[in-house]
Amino acid sequence: MSMLSIGGSALLLVPRNGLFVERDILRPIRRAPATLVGMCGIVGYVGNSSRRADAGHSALDVVLEGLRRLEYRGYDSAGVAVVADGTIAARKKSGKLTNLLAELESDPLPTSLTGIGHTRWATHGGPTDQNAHPHLADGGRLAMIHNGIIENFAELKQELLEKGVTFTSETDTEVAAALLGDIFRNQLNGESSNLTKAMQLACQRLEGAFTLLAVHADQPDVVVAARRNSPLVVGLGEGENFLGSDVSGFIDHTRRAVELGQDQIVTITADSVEITDFFGAPAQGKEYHVDWDPASAEKGGFSSFMEKEIHDQPDAVAQTLLGRSDLNGQLTLSELRIDPELLKKVDKIIVLACGTAAYAGLVAKYAIENWCRIPTEVELAHEFRYRDPIVDAKTLVVSISQSGETMDTLMAVRYAREQGAKTISICNTNGSTIPRESDAVLYTHAGPEIAVASTKAFLAQITAAYLLGLYLAQLRGNIFSGQIKDVLADLGKVPAKIQEILDGAGPLRELARSMKDEKSVLFLGRHVGFPVALEGALKLKEIAYIHAEGFAAGELKHGPIALIDEGQPVFVVVPSPRGRDSLHAKVVSNIQEIRARGARTLVIAEEGDETVRAYAEHVFYVPQTPTLLMPLLTTVPLQIFAAELAKAKGYDVDQPRNLAKSVTVE
Ligand code: M6R
Repeated sequence: MSMLSIGGSALLLVPRNGLFVERDILRPIRRAPATLVGMCGIVGYVGNSSRRADAGHSALDVVLEGLRRLEYRGYDSAGVAVVADGTIAARKKSGKLTNLLAELESDPLPTSLTGIGHTRWATHGGPTDQNAHPHLADGGRLAMIHNGIIENFAELKQELLEKGVTFTSETDTEVAAALLGDIFRNQLNGESSNLTKAMQLACQRLEGAFTLLAVHADQPDVVVAARRNSPLVVGLGEGENFLGSDVSGFIDHTRRAVELGQDQIVTITADSVEITDFFGAPAQGKEYHVDWDPASAEKGGFSSFMEKEIHDQPDAVAQTLLGRSDLNGQLTLSELRIDPELLKKVDKIIVLACGTAAYAGLVAKYAIENWCRIPTEVELAHEFRYRDPIVDAKTLVVSISQSGETMDTLMAVRYAREQGAKTISICNTNGSTIPRESDAVLYTHAGPEIAVASTKAFLAQITAAYLLGLYLAQLRGNIFSGQIKDVLADLGKVPAKIQEILDGAGPLRELARSMKDEKSVLFLGRHVGFPVALEGALKLKEIAYIHAEGFAAGELKHGPIALIDEGQPVFVVVPSPRGRDSLHAKVVSNIQEIRARGARTLVIAEEGDETVRAYAEHVFYVPQTPTLLMPLLTTVPLQIFAAELAKAKGYDVDQPRNLAKSVTVE
């Protein structure tokens, strides 16, 4: 064991065969509980007095700033606690962060250097003031915040009730806080005032999945946190240290982050970071640099993060392509640290993802099968492991996840690894759990995506999947290098074409505003246009709360056409009329069929396709690009349509009801 100093902070490190390796990959795979896990945002901070005097960093300011950035994770209620003058002072409020800010305005907290904060997505007990975090224990001297669910809370609560503990909320968190308080006060046997030790003992008793942060008035300079199957990152500062559910929690203050492994406890003070396992054995974290700056997590003059992120898309695609091919047009995915010989032997690819990321997977299937001739299945991650799938050492599992924390996807990846598959993660969040638990990662470089509705991550995921498909084709000799070069050149032109769509979106926005009272909108597509139709429908559902369905256009006559009635709006994603085996004519026939039954047809077509005009109430043209790459363009008008319509309805575009950005729910 050795103590390494990392720029003012101290990390306890245990070298393993001389390597600074990711612990989770080495340890036996732990089956996560089949459970609901909260999706809250968590921040912790400890600074020293000179730090505060220099930079005006009071714990409350830092914590509130972190909560503002993390609010996308959950927004049912929010709360903070600081340690000041030998006591804990806490405020909490149901509703969005603004409610808490108003409460703090009327009832301010004392100045402090140690604090924690929480923004909640309710799982256990409704979103009330009482159930909001922090929860207090040990006579109000201890405060705890929590993301996750304590599965054995009922049994622990009973035990604590018998000891005379009283509870004021319906949450499992309050039980965990009371347990920690009881251990701290009554069970430390000579190690009094050791919150770290108490947390270790408490975690040994807790079942479920959780991130816990605690402060205690007896140890005013310390925040102690624990993690099991729920995200937690440490931020390293100079004379101050941070904790966050993700790096947004402290990105205003430092870009130096430390990943924690499963079942670890971290104790931060202003000058040190110490990591142990749940039994007190020193453990290690892995430091990394956060490569996006705080400005990229701001709205930048747009009315919502979603609008901003839609406009970030030319850059998201360009950044994802950057540095991944050489001057000869050869793919150079050096980060894919999987033996090329193994990749050559792959006989099946399974893409695992949820929601929008799964639609990116569907697009990937068309491209990968076309270029690599490897059978490719796309499966919703939550369905995958419950159907006894056929997976072996020749299976390549590609997971796609913006957050890298989606519990369904994580569980599916773990299952696939257990079965011997090689796993590659396509992910947007550096240091998150899914890439860490995969054999290799291909990061999308979309920058932080804050709006709950995914936009730029989707295009970046598709781009990364294309790169992976081309790389496999190159490795296995499925297509000529000239062809790869051509596709890469076409991909390189996509950002400018997206920009063209963004610049010409005025009429589409006008249409969206005029449709704000629609009750239902349908979306049709075929081939790669099918996942685009699904994505268009999902966007509208999640932010405009309008009933929307996406269908494969060929499926219409097998049922969905019965939905068509006078005035029913239907978006149709029309394939290019160019090319020998174009599906264009078939989709145009579909448009005629629905128009004949009264549908209002809103058509997305390729520039130069004049034939569709006759059948469309509105046509929105996108620039020409090869068919397989078309989703990178045809998706954009549908995103703009949904965002504009939701805005016209007066809805919160970034924080739609009932949803949270990071879905750590199984
Ligand atoms: O973080 P992930 O990409 O794993 O998230 C997957 C889905 O939850 C996500 O794409 C969700 O469907 C979005 N809200 C869609 O806009």
